[in-house]
Amino acid sequence: MKTLVIKELRKHFGKTWALKNLNIELDPGEIFVLLGPNGAGKTTTLKLIAGLFHPTHGDIYIKGINLAKEPLKAKRMTGYIPDEPFIYNKLTGREFINFIAGIYDINKNQYESRMDALLGKLDIGEWIDDFSETYSHGMKQKVIMCQLFLHNPDLILIDEPLVGLDPKSSKSVREIFLELKAQSKTLFICTHTLSFAKEIASKIGIINKGELKFIGALSELSEISGKKDIEEIYLKLSEELPLEQEV
Ligand SMILES: Nc1ncnc2c1ncn2[C@@H]1O[C@H](COP(=O)(O)OP(=O)(O)OP(=O)(O)O)[C@@H](O)[C@H]1O
Ligand SMILES: [Mg+2]
Repeated sequence: MKTLVIKELRKHFGKTWALKNLNIELDPGEIFVLLGPNGAGKTTTLKLIAGLFHPTHGDIYIKGINLAKEPLKAKRMTGYIPDEPFIYNKLTGREFINFIAGIYDINKNQYESRMDALLGKLDIGEWIDDFSETYSHGMKQKVIMCQLFLHNPDLILIDEPLVGLDPKSSKSVREIFLELKAQSKTLFICTHTLSFAKEIASKIGIINKGELKFIGALSELSEISGKKDIEEIYLKLSEELPLEQEV
């Protein structure tokens, strides 16, 4: 069964069509990387799949469950990491993780050993017991990432995973993503880091002005665009996109 099916997804805000007609299908074990310029519709897409926005039109199925019809069931299978990590200021990182586990009704002994390994891997030190108001962007991002290992979601949505992370942590995150892939999880990642996309993606999408211009393996994109380097492909495809955006 497909982990994610998106059918004719459209979203407008006032007069702006943030998404025009999106169709995407992802299998278990796929890492899909969505690329596109600022304002292209990447975050909107992730928020729609996470159930934080309602679509203007179209359907989203997570492991066959219609998100609009059975939102709780669909959301339980999904993990979402936003681009602006948010943690309550007066909670420590550890308290925040325990709080989220409580929301998902997960017992501490179900995740504690996995969590300890993850804290080590992400280089999360004793600061996990400090108030989150003292954290940098990258520190918050790492704590938020721990959430993914609490309820063991099949579909993982991540907006700009590398922003604010130091090189060592970026490497760990890449390794963690590949481990998740090996466990047949499906990852949907939005990023501006082309080298990361090249390294990790099994499928790449390029979106601009709410339209998916291409979707496929990097090798297919190279063939279609006649370019080999991902930066050149990206720039070429971005140039060819239509300009009108008004309703
Ligand atoms: N809550 C909102 N209200 C109104 N317009 C919005 C809202 N969220 C997004 N938009 C508009 O939708 C379009 C797509 O925005 P989105 O945030 O999805 O882009 P993005 O591809 O994630 O960009 P970036 O690379 O800068 O993060 C933009 O034109 C944006 O102004
Ligand atoms: Mg965005």
